[in-house]
Amino acid sequence: MDRLPAGTPFGPYIIDGFVAGGGMGHVYAARHAIYGSSVALKVLHPHLELDPEWRSRFTEEGAAGQRLKHPHICAARELVVDGGRTALVLDLVASGKTLARALSQEFPTGLPLPEALRLFLQILQGVEHAHARGFVHGDIKPENVLIQGDVRVPSSWVPLVTDFGTVGLIAHPVQIDGRPAVVASPRYASPEHLRGVTSLIPASDVFALGLLLHYVVSGQHASAATTVPEAAVVVKAPLSVVHLVDQPEGVLAIFLRATAIEPDKRYGSCGELASAVRGVLDRLGVRVDEDLAADLATELVDDGRTGPRSMAQVPTDPDSTPTTPAASTPPPEPPPPEPTPAAPRSSAMSWIFLGSGALALGAVAAVAVLAWWLGRGG
Ligand SMILES: Nc1ncnc2c1ncn2[C@@H]1O[C@H](COP(=O)(O)OP(=O)(O)O)[C@@H](O)[C@H]1O
Ligand SMILES: [Mg+2]
Repeated sequence: MDRLPAGTPFGPYIIDGFVAGGGMGHVYAARHAIYGSSVALKVLHPHLELDPEWRSRFTEEGAAGQRLKHPHICAARELVVDGGRTALVLDLVASGKTLARALSQEFPTGLPLPEALRLFLQILQGVEHAHARGFVHGDIKPENVLIQGDVRVPSSWVPLVTDFGTVGLIAHPVQIDGRPAVVASPRYASPEHLRGVTSLIPASDVFALGLLLHYVVSGQHASAATTVPEAAVVVKAPLSVVHLVDQPEGVLAIFLRATAIEPDKRYGSCGELASAVRGVLDRLGVRVDEDLAADLATELVDDGRTGPRSMAQVPTDPDSTPTTPAASTPPPEPPPPEPTPAAPRSSAMSWIFLGSGALALGAVAAVAVLAWWLGRGG
């Protein structure tokens, strides 16, 4: 797929270079033509631009970004349109590295436990912030966490949860040929997500976070599923803990509870999950940054809310993401897969899975793998 060359103007920005290819668009490093400030531009693929449904999903990601301001979130600041092309503007993460890439390159057997848990607590803060504002991320995985800092020095890592593109997909499920489709990352999607439940709840993110914990401590994905149907089978049984046997018991217990098949058996919130993680750190005699604990405790108070909700289930505040009726337009022709330097391909895959009816609930008739999604760099 065509890339915009360095020097191309885009709204008030000038493209400096290509960073990574994703399912919805290419990501470029760019700078403001007048102020010189650096940004990341996520430019929607031209063929998706023509489809109002996909374009509106992109717009929703932008709208979500307006409400998500947190030190551990990298969401869109604004939306820019230029000559019929649309781009989301994000803070540029200099390394462009995702957790998937940083870990696989530098720490293939996982981070030292204190570092892993510290990083995980920060990720939890970011996700909790989104939950408190009514957003379920819906696609938490190592490819959607950006890492700031020196990738060789984990104590310098600052994680930023990114890619809120799925927020719109959950609110307005994809239809292909009039049938509902599930957009999911096979290794990280919750059982309810894989069943085609569209009203994902914060507990669905908690499930993915349990899998993410497994990844940061061991460097291994807990699930080896590479397709949605495969994943739907894998998550029906308890996941293997073979890579966690060397970890303290507390880590194993957290993983098992976070990834319980029934959502109500999981931790009720990211805050609850964070408390369990802090308990492990306490027992190890590792001091937790006081600010971390305090931030999580004040998050909901600041927001004046009583708890996390699902954007898809509960209407958000009047200033929240606007919603549009789900479109039934068939999706655009998938582009050819494109290598993404940001992450190992196998773990970056997301699939679109067709159910047999509006309430497919596991009665699966056919599977459509959209090749473009294979190139989704996380
Ligand atoms: N703000 C950013 N700064 C630097 N690189 C980024 C930024 N946002 C995304 N990227 C890179 O682009 C890739 C795709 O971005 P993402 O938001 O996950 O899009 P997609 O919806 O296509 O998966 C990421 O894996 C990462 O490598
Ligand atoms: Mg992504």
